[in-house]
Amino acid sequence: MPGTPDKIGDDIGCDVGLYKTTVIPSQSPDDLALIVDHPEWHEFSARVVVSRDIATPALVNTDDGSCQITSSDAGSTDAFNYKGYVFNEQYKTVDNNGALMEAVDHSELAAIRFYEIIPNTTRSRNWDNSIGNRVKLLGDVPLLADKSFKAELPCETPYIMAGVDSDGRIIKRDQVPQSLRQGEKRVCMGCHLHAKEGRPYEQSLAFSAPAFDLTKAMPVPTYTDDIKPIFEAKCTSCHAVGGDVPLYDYQNLVWDFSQKALPDHRKVQMTSSTNETRKYGLQRPMISKYVNNMYARESLLYWKAANKRTDGRTDDQYGDDIDFGADHPVDLSPSEVDLIGEWLDSGAAE
Ligand code: HEC
Ligand code: HEC
Repeated sequence: MPGTPDKIGDDIGCDVGLYKTTVIPSQSPDDLALIVDHPEWHEFSARVVVSRDIATPALVNTDDGSCQITSSDAGSTDAFNYKGYVFNEQYKTVDNNGALMEAVDHSELAAIRFYEIIPNTTRSRNWDNSIGNRVKLLGDVPLLADKSFKAELPCETPYIMAGVDSDGRIIKRDQVPQSLRQGEKRVCMGCHLHAKEGRPYEQSLAFSAPAFDLTKAMPVPTYTDDIKPIFEAKCTSCHAVGGDVPLYDYQNLVWDFSQKALPDHRKVQMTSSTNETRKYGLQRPMISKYVNNMYARESLLYWKAANKRTDGRTDDQYGDDIDFGADHPVDLSPSEVDLIGEWLDSGAAE
């Protein structure tokens, strides 16, 4: 940078500062006018700070110190995937950050689910959970007749949000935790509506509805306590323990990215590479042949439990994806199928 020392004491170094160019495009360092450049700091990532005068948004506080989140119309959305579907390439699209299941219509949205985040207070990096955070379930707020909703959440508590269908399966989700300050009321238009104005909150049913109480968190299912016992009771007659469908081994069922635990006839080929890991390597959101970390509805394990393909696609549609296969009647009650779905949707914890 012009005119500033690039040497502090005896240490030779480069010193970054903030300058404004007087000529666009700038041709030489002489075009630059100094804004700030201390020799002891690297100044970077300038932000424009200009004074502005905007009205204080209305309705940002609750009357009673509670914390509420509400949307004037969760049925309207601009949050769509921006790219077409290619199996095992979904990590390149919004599917891995959230957004809508590719082949499921937003109109299937029936309720909004909230999960509370459990902080990792250990130093262990062994934090197996497919959605990146361990969670507890706060519950679902049903959409009102005009698809608006209002929920009360615990204050000062990180949470993530998901849209669920009428069976309670997630079809849409965010991944970055948010939280509400004491007494905050957060009002959103739509389910991310940015290109249009959307229904004013005051005109939604949520505006005068009582807040749906979602302040008490409960544990989500785990493999060891809830899922494995179902498999041991209902699946061993055809899938033997130690057999080649890894139902009874958590790591091999959930985390086998490159299908290493599977015999060749079970592996689904991803590329023509001669490198085994690449040839059978699954990409997020698939974390094994059986588990999609975003959605139970995109997981082969859930299809087999529900005895139907639930991702909105058919086996005939794509030649290179994972297929549901033949009819697979199982002796599971609706609540057991739901438990398997809830386990997968909440992060497939061990
Ligand atoms: C069920 C529909 C839906 C509703 C309603 C909704 N969101 Fe989201 N939100 C999403 C989805 C899907 C994403 C992820 C999009 C992505 O990452 O590409 C997202 C992402 C976000 C993000 C970015 C962080 C992230 O995880 O990607 C923020 C912040 C956010 N939403 C805030 C809000 C707020 C505040 C409201 C008001 C209640 C709201 N959302 C209502 C679906 C919704
Ligand atoms: C009546 C016998 C039977 C029962 C009981 C049964 N399955 Fe299956 N399952 C099959 C058959 C047959 C297949 C398809 C052929 C194959 O992949 O071996 C299959 C395939 C699967 C697959 C796909 C395997 C792959 O790699 O493609 C999964 C996952 C699965 N079953 C899960 C379950 C679960 C979970 C249970 C218990 C809730 C269960 N099955 C109970 C017969 C059964």
